[in-house]
Amino acid sequence: MWTTIWTLTVTLWLLGHALCAGDSTPESLSYVGDAARLARSLQVVLIQQTILTVAENTTPPKPDTPRHMTEKEHLLQRMDKKNGRWTEHHPRHRLLEALRGFSAYAQTHLAELDHLKTLYSHVSKQQKALLEKEVGYSKKFTSISDLVAINQNLCHTIVQNALEFYRISQGELDRHTEEMMAAGRAAERVSVSQSLKHLVRDWAAEGANERDVAFSCIIKVLEGLVAGHDEPLTALLPGAGLGRLGQDVSKLGFDVTNNEWSMYQNVVYRFLETNGGRRHQNVVYPFLDSWSHHKTTSDMLRGVSFPDVAMNASAVVLVEGDFTTAFMGEAGHFDVVVTHFFIDTARNLMSYLDTIFRILKPGGHWINFGPLLYGSAPFVQLSLDEIVAVAEAMGFQFRDGPDECGAVSLAGMEVRSLEAVYGFDERALVKNAYDAQFWVAQKP
Ligand SMILES: C[S@@+](CC[C@H](N)C(=O)[O-])C[C@H]1O[C@@H](n2cnc3c(N)ncnc32)[C@H](O)[C@@H]1O
Ligand SMILES: *[C@@H]1O[C@H](CO)[C@@H](O)[C@H](O)[C@H]1NC(C)=O
Repeated sequence: MWTTIWTLTVTLWLLGHALCAGDSTPESLSYVGDAARLARSLQVVLIQQTILTVAENTTPPKPDTPRHMTEKEHLLQRMDKKNGRWTEHHPRHRLLEALRGFSAYAQTHLAELDHLKTLYSHVSKQQKALLEKEVGYSKKFTSISDLVAINQNLCHTIVQNALEFYRISQGELDRHTEEMMAAGRAAERVSVSQSLKHLVRDWAAEGANERDVAFSCIIKVLEGLVAGHDEPLTALLPGAGLGRLGQDVSKLGFDVTNNEWSMYQNVVYRFLETNGGRRHQNVVYPFLDSWSHHKTTSDMLRGVSFPDVAMNASAVVLVEGDFTTAFMGEAGHFDVVVTHFFIDTARNLMSYLDTIFRILKPGGHWINFGPLLYGSAPFVQLSLDEIVAVAEAMGFQFRDGPDECGAVSLAGMEVRSLEAVYGFDERALVKNAYDAQFWVAQKP
């Protein structure tokens, strides 16, 4: 049976390649112009997927260990409408809002595109003639809306997967959507788009340049901690985004818990738990909603396949919710807390520090890597030297990290500095990078 499929797929594969020779690779699918060629390159993706499916003919691990089951039970209780007050802060409300956003992906993006078409209509007839002749400017609108439709399919699958996982009916989501529309509340566009870009940062080969600097440094420290332990150590990663670092940490033998508050991230993570077990199983077009900083239009319209490594959904448990409240009952529980691009997201930084200290075991380690980019209306905003002073006063003892974790940030302090990119699109004509601050601090 497999042999037949093999022969068939190999034949189709060759056919696919003959049709659009040399224009797509599984890592990054260059967009190829008109709709017919696009359809063919998508066909190639499907064929490649089939080949990978045959090649990786084992069932990927499922998130169904006892730890997963217990956490899911707790999650479903927290998500119950009757649990707590029903406001827009209720996790079920936040989930429904995220699902409304993903469901409306095409609608919100096409509305944006329509606006751009209107703007283009102000260009003079002569100018338009030149633009159309030389670059086929209007065709870009068509190409983008074709790809928006493909992204919408992905978003639709993300929504369906979430409805099943959280045991919510389409009817409930529809009623929520109607209520919100009646209240004049637009579906979220930016957070959906950001979460799709996080697929590149965390789960695409292209994201390696963003991941490598931080990951290799963090992994190096963790390898040192794990050496000589027979029992697995426990690691918690708050603000885990789409969870790649946690996945890599689990490979060192840690029992990993990811924690993430955003339902826009969490529904994509749940999708990966179901659909991320095979390499290059999915494609997203993450860059089509921003027209700035592109060297070529095909850069803007390129597809990115994910995951670049198969996700092992059974290796990591995701605990949804706010870091400062989700681990109330877990004082002295974790050997390691890794904050990766996280501490500056705090409403109250002091509560983050208190929580990290409280949930660590005596002798446990806090590893930090990230900028100090304070968000909207934080209660307190500290500079690096102040964070170190406050953490030391709480009892944390700073330990010097390995040399590959950068140069010392401040004389006399065990904190290092490393340039870290956070921009999603490595081909863009703009760079967004931080002098990320790295430290290891131990609870006595
Ligand atoms: C700057 S992002 C970094 C995500 C990921 N670590 C990465 O580097 O790609 C910060 C993340 O922290 C999450 N976050 C913010 N406040 C949180 C809280 N109180 N508890 C848990 N997660 C939170 C955000 O939703 C966001 O996904
Ligand atoms: C997935 O992770 C679990 C727990 O760490 C491990 O026992 C299992 O071997 C892993 N499976 C694969 C296919 O990597």
